[in-house]
Amino acid sequence: MHSQAQELSEQDMTDIAAFFAGTPLPSGHRDAAQVPQVAGLCVSCHGADGVGITPLYPTLAGQHADYIARSLDEYQKGARKNLIMASFVAKLTSAQIEALAEYFSKQEPALQTLPRAYSRFSAGQ
Ligand code: HEC
Repeated sequence: MHSQAQELSEQDMTDIAAFFAGTPLPSGHRDAAQVPQVAGLCVSCHGADGVGITPLYPTLAGQHADYIARSLDEYQKGARKNLIMASFVAKLTSAQIEALAEYFSKQEPALQTLPRAYSRFSAGQ
């Protein structure tokens, strides 16, 4: 621990402390005022921009809307078993599920897969 901590700057330590204190990461994309009301509950874990506030919470940003809708449906019906999610989806209507899926799928993911200019599949063509 000492050898790792030694190389951290003041700023690094402040950042790490903020991270573990559960302070949401700065989103840059969305502020709370732009989040649809129904997603108000979700953002405390999944982030206003759909990027989980810690790695404990899956990132929803950029996920396919039909995948999000289906997983919410599965939590609701018990096909996916997770106590946290089950409680948050229990009372959602299917219209609300659609709206949530639409909203989170349109957010920009924190990680992106960039197209590669060159790959072994394009070699020699
Ligand atoms: C208290 C924190 C918390 C809140 C609030 C919360 N979730 Fe989750 N969510 C989780 C956790 C933890 C998981 C992972 C559960 C698992 O392992 O199945 C999860 C999983 C999910 C998944 C599945 C992601 C995937 O990649 O399969 C979706 C979709 C989702 N949540 C949407 C929502 C929506 C929409 C709301 C608001 C109605 C919400 N969550 C509220 C903690 C939360």
